[in-house]
Amino acid sequence: MLIPRPFDSEALKLHPFTCGEPELDNWLAEHAGQNERRNNVRTTLLLDEHKGRIAGYYSLRTFELSAADGSSAIGRTRRYPIPAMLMARLAVDVGYQGAGVGRILLFDALHKLASAAEDVGFEIVVVHALHENAACFYLKYGFRRFLDHELSLFMTTKELRATFVTSESS
Ligand SMILES: CC(C)(COP(=O)(O)OP(=O)(O)OC[C@H]1O[C@@H](n2cnc3c(N)ncnc32)[C@H](O)[C@@H]1OP(=O)(O)O)[C@@H](O)C(=O)NCCC(=O)NCCS
Repeated sequence: MLIPRPFDSEALKLHPFTCGEPELDNWLAEHAGQNERRNNVRTTLLLDEHKGRIAGYYSLRTFELSAADGSSAIGRTRRYPIPAMLMARLAVDVGYQGAGVGRILLFDALHKLASAAEDVGFEIVVVHALHENAACFYLKYGFRRFLDHELSLFMTTKELRATFVTSESS
């Protein structure tokens, strides 16, 4: 059974996490703990407690688009910066890819963000995909491409709340 858990450095002592993108593997192993302690990124681990492995992880943080960047990305003139949340990282171990684990992680993150949107103001959720394959994964779940950068995608908070507010979070 796969269970989302807050980041815990003890879990890194389990089987090494490998998703096929060394940058994402190294970040989890080398930097996630320090970022957690500094409160600048929150990481959630999806643990396979039966096998003692990390099946996947994602990390979230706040973000802001300048008025100029926001206008060209979203295609509407903006006079003020756009407050946002950033899906900073999301990765599935190669042993678990193609089995719905990415979807579990993404939905867990989006439910959390929909819940946070009850109390914290932000207009969009942004993700910078590492490559076109990853962008296609996000497109499937309602993200749209920035007009000026095809590997950056967003979902409005209105869309997020319409889809991901649950009875527990409303
Ligand atoms: C991209 C990634 C997160 C997808 O996770 P996954 O567990 O393999 O995907 P899932 O099995 O949950 O797939 C969910 C759905 O997305 C689709 N999907 C998955 N990867 C896709 C891709 N590259 N292109 C299009 N659709 C994709 C699946 O077909 C599935 O759709 P279905 O339910 O209709 O069959 C994962 O492959 C991964 O971690 N890759 C390496 C790291 C990485 O690139 N992370 C993204 C950084 S931005």
